[in-house]
Amino acid sequence: MNTKSARISIHRDKALSILDRRLFGSFLEHLGRAVYEGVWQPGSPLSDDEGFRADLLEEVRSLGVPIVRYPGGNFVSGYNWLDGVGPTEQRPSVHEKAWNSTETNQFGTNEFMRWCRLTGTEPLLVFNLGDSTPEMAAAYVDYCNGRGGTQWSDLRRSHGVEQPHGVRRWCLGNEIDGPWEIGHKKSREYARIANDTARCVREVDPNVQLIAAGSSNTELPTYGHWDRDVVEACYEHIDAISLHNYYGNTEELTGNSTARYLAMNLDMERQIREIAAICDDVRQKLGARKRLWLSFDEWNVWYRARTAADQDGQGKVAPHLLEEEYNLEDALLVGGFFNTLMRESARVRIACQAQLVNVIAPLLTSNEGVLRQSIYYPYAWALKHANGKVLDCHCESETYPIEAGDLRHDFARDAQVPFIDASVTLDESTGKACLFLLNRDLDERCELALDWHGTEPVRVLACETLAGTDLKAVNSFRDRNKVAPRTLDAPRPGRNMTLELPATSYTILSLALN
Ligand code: AHR
Repeated sequence: MNTKSARISIHRDKALSILDRRLFGSFLEHLGRAVYEGVWQPGSPLSDDEGFRADLLEEVRSLGVPIVRYPGGNFVSGYNWLDGVGPTEQRPSVHEKAWNSTETNQFGTNEFMRWCRLTGTEPLLVFNLGDSTPEMAAAYVDYCNGRGGTQWSDLRRSHGVEQPHGVRRWCLGNEIDGPWEIGHKKSREYARIANDTARCVREVDPNVQLIAAGSSNTELPTYGHWDRDVVEACYEHIDAISLHNYYGNTEELTGNSTARYLAMNLDMERQIREIAAICDDVRQKLGARKRLWLSFDEWNVWYRARTAADQDGQGKVAPHLLEEEYNLEDALLVGGFFNTLMRESARVRIACQAQLVNVIAPLLTSNEGVLRQSIYYPYAWALKHANGKVLDCHCESETYPIEAGDLRHDFARDAQVPFIDASVTLDESTGKACLFLLNRDLDERCELALDWHGTEPVRVLACETLAGTDLKAVNSFRDRNKVAPRTLDAPRPGRNMTLELPATSYTILSLALN
């Protein structure tokens, strides 16, 4: 096998941003087996006394997931939060319209808040702006955050929850631009209800941060226009706008080319910059002081479990829906997405990998326990090693061409893509730095030179890689470690270092600096 070379220069004093750890959030929707059988399964020998899956809870707690978006997704646009609170035996079972399932409401807001406390994660709640009203949204905030003495906060207390939940961050609906969404609206109609909701909600709790629903993907004809209309009409009332997108290695999106697929984090980067530019343009026109931030609150690889059958619950409770199986090449791209999110973290403050468990997720549960899918590993690395600030590193790498061909219009581009994709973080409080390195080269290793300026690594703390010759390999309950990290030979620490990256790999190098 041949070897290419590349070089990265890192300056200790050149920072892009202070990292908000909410960049590594996740998402839990009442969909398929995410809630029921995923986080909650009373009666299972694998669950604790409260009905939470103890094995899953331990995975999430040890991962250190900082924020989890809940309860949807498309589900939320038909959800009445009142159905999910109060004595469980009085909660109604209802027909769930988004995924044609049965929602028993045995798990609701208070169970989710309890689970958040147990796992050490922050809730990011979503209002129903599909078939519900601003008044119900304000009531929900009062129910969650009121101290008592109001109808809704007293209702919570009557449900045995004395202390307010103190939910700070809320999404103003989900994917209302999407024709598939319950209560789909035109941008101006959405902006009106979003503004009304923001006003009503802030009367109840002025401290909330509100995220408007941006475009659901880059394919829709309204992409960009929707965002501009919403930002223009809602600027005063919102703190951020959301971005969503899902990616896949398909004929339509990549021409089934792994080389094109592994460049898709650059499509995410482009989307972030496009939406940020719209926000800045509107800000300038309005002469506003406030700068909106971005919440990329749904992103992931999702292309296999997308058939009609994968999305139709046939009226069942906890049906098997969207149970995507992830392979090695997906994990490499997911690593690339984390690199992009870190590089764009001056603007993106929240991002949620969609989703957490069983539904397009890094974790799967069964009666045997929890399985870590391939995409678990880059997520775990980001959570473990990306702390402090993101450094502005300069990467010199050879490139390869990608072509527009007849790919779907939003992914059709002619460009040169660098083989090496890098992000670097530095935690000044511990003196630890970490490099996150994607080698997109399908055939060749890379001899990577690292030049440090203003500092010197003195010790290698970890050097691990995800790589392999079978890019389609997956983990299963029978073969749990087909795709798992292995330790690489540690480079000699110093101002100038050399690290060998395997072909098609995602690698982390954690270092102690002087
Ligand atoms: O995450 C799965 C679905 O994808 C969500 O419910 C929806 O918001 C998006 O279209």
